[in-house]
Amino acid sequence: MKSKSSAPGKIILFGEHFVVYGVKAILCAINKRVSVTAEKTQDAKISITSNIGSMISEPHKPLSEIASPLKPLYYMADKMIKDQNTGINIVVDSEIPPGVGLGSSSACCVAGAAAIIGLFKRESSREEVLNLAIQAEKTIFANTSGADCTVCTYGGIMSYDKINGFEVIASKSNFNLVVANSNLERSTESVVAGVKQLKERDGALFSALCSDESKLVDDVLQLLKTGSNISELGQKVVRNQRHLEAIGVSNDTLRDMVKIGQRESFGAKITGAGGGGCIFALADSSNLQRTVDKFRENNYICFSTSIDFKGLDTF
Ligand code: PMV
Repeated sequence: MKSKSSAPGKIILFGEHFVVYGVKAILCAINKRVSVTAEKTQDAKISITSNIGSMISEPHKPLSEIASPLKPLYYMADKMIKDQNTGINIVVDSEIPPGVGLGSSSACCVAGAAAIIGLFKRESSREEVLNLAIQAEKTIFANTSGADCTVCTYGGIMSYDKINGFEVIASKSNFNLVVANSNLERSTESVVAGVKQLKERDGALFSALCSDESKLVDDVLQLLKTGSNISELGQKVVRNQRHLEAIGVSNDTLRDMVKIGQRESFGAKITGAGGGGCIFALADSSNLQRTVDKFRENNYICFSTSIDFKGLDTF
């Protein structure tokens, strides 16, 4: 029997970095998915095949011996096998570019959790899947807040802060987002560490930026709840980008991409850690194609996407 699930990727619409210091962030799921198919096998091995590589290993190995980015899937398969005499074959198929802040690993953990649980149980709740996915993600990102896995599980738009956790935003605002990829590798940890240094150097500036960002996010939540006016929302995107510039997470390539996005669409900003990775431009049918074309003319890789309201899907 095969068990198959898929989960969407995500982008951070507002509040990255500031969320580390208690400000609310707004995330949404995007309609690019990771699909995971799991199947029991008779060879007592865990084998995983994916777009980023493959691995095959005996069950019940210490996790410290699994040196692979596929460790979260190994962890989940091994946990579910327990002492049963079975192997598991897992195949991952992803539409989400890895390592650029679009939630590919969280979507893989969520779809993987659901597919693997599905081999052993007929029914599982989204909560159960999410809990396993977060535990799995912690095997590679020990400090994950769980925000990414949560939005990949439930879909839609969410706010998140460190104290109150998640809140689903009942908004069906379905704008288009053009995501452009700088193709520059970056480590979230080192960009976050750079922001911490800035905070330590200039606490007053940083705290003023945090309160500006907090006010901005509150305004956005209001806009989303009352049926957003896209050009007003675009202005908020532009303002958020200024805050990200001020904390030093941008660079020449990202600035050039943001400039193109801001010229062609309602607003554009970095999404995620910055230092590389992706930006998004907020668009609707009036400027979507033009925005995509301009990025491509300037040799940037981009795709258009919209919000995914489905979240985890099991087949
Ligand atoms: O690049 P991503 O999508 O992993 O996002 C990082 C978001 C930060 O706010 C920069 C860090 C964090 O832990 O929230």
